[in-house]
Amino acid sequence: MQDHRLVSAQALGEEDYVDSSLRPLRLTEYIGQDKVKENLEVFISAAKGRGESLDHVLLSGPPGLGKTTLATIMAHEMGCSIRRTSGPAIERPGDLAAILTNLEPGDVLFIDEIHRLNRSIEEIMYPAMEDYVIDIVIGKGPAARTLQIDLPPFTLIAATTRPGLLSSPLRDRFGINCRLDFYSEEDLSRIIVRAASILDIAIDTTGAGEIARCSRGTPRVANRLLKRVRDYALVRGSGKIDSVTAVKALEMLEIDSYGLDTVDRMILDAIIIKFGGGPVGLDTLAACISEETDTLTDVYEPYLLKLGFIHKTPRGRVATEQAYRLMGYPVKGRVEEHSLFEDRE
Ligand SMILES: Nc1ncnc2c1ncn2[C@@H]1O[C@H](COP(=O)(O)OP(=O)(O)OP(=O)(O)O)[C@@H](O)[C@H]1O
Ligand SMILES: [Mg+2]
Repeated sequence: MQDHRLVSAQALGEEDYVDSSLRPLRLTEYIGQDKVKENLEVFISAAKGRGESLDHVLLSGPPGLGKTTLATIMAHEMGCSIRRTSGPAIERPGDLAAILTNLEPGDVLFIDEIHRLNRSIEEIMYPAMEDYVIDIVIGKGPAARTLQIDLPPFTLIAATTRPGLLSSPLRDRFGINCRLDFYSEEDLSRIIVRAASILDIAIDTTGAGEIARCSRGTPRVANRLLKRVRDYALVRGSGKIDSVTAVKALEMLEIDSYGLDTVDRMILDAIIIKFGGGPVGLDTLAACISEETDTLTDVYEPYLLKLGFIHKTPRGRVATEQAYRLMGYPVKGRVEEHSLFEDRE
């Protein structure tokens, strides 16, 4: 279902491939996430100064915030090439061995969705990350032998939307841990203005601000909305995106000023009406809106939590007073009481 959502933070179809022109290539062009950027700048120049490869990096955060972009930038800044793969694509230990033994010294190996890496494959990763060796078992039973193969020094950059699912031995082997957070409206405005100039779209700061407000703190959503608003501006407006055009276009696209769409509203409605405001377990809630539990956790929930429309409690999710107001329902007294049990995970 989320595949058709204009405000989905996940990439739609070939979108990211098509959008490669919008991907910043240098750290200085990467807007926002200042703390992460500052740290990486230091680590990168220190590693370059020592003539060593960068320590392994774990990038975590909700979809569309720029993890893949940042991995590409790091490789670029280090002046080395990047090999890409993903957790689910590595099916057998042999797949990983082939990837690792084909790396050139200093290469960056980017593994997307590392939390979906098979446990038996994960174990091969430990010595590879720590000592640049892999142990391969040849043969079966008593005749089995272990062969140790040396690897060139490399940097593993891994991305995940669910850092909590990583085993601690794997997590501990990353020397650099960066958590990306939702972007502020100001940063999103800057991202939109930058993308508009690359795409040759006329826009003013108020127009960019209106789009930024609806972008769920997510650059991928911001870029997508920009393109749809541009279409509107070309067909119904003067061709330039100002605040009036942006507001009208976003209204036509049925995106409210929080960037919420029908699925988000369905979630809030289900908690409030079907489950009396909660608490309701994630699985139950996901079944109720016909979504996978993982999609609910990765895609919808982080932003609703961030806006304060839902709370996590040990017994499940509850709707906050703010959600009742948003949905136009009378506020219940018991909602307040739940926040006392808020689970600060
Ligand atoms: N800081 C930024 N400045 C400018 N543009 C950005 C920034 N971060 C992301 N983008 C844009 O947003 C789009 C999505 O970013 P990216 O693909 O890196 O997200 P992601 O975190 O890897 O998502 P996923 O979890 O779905 O893999 C990119 O095409 C890029 O153009
Ligand atoms: Mg990505």
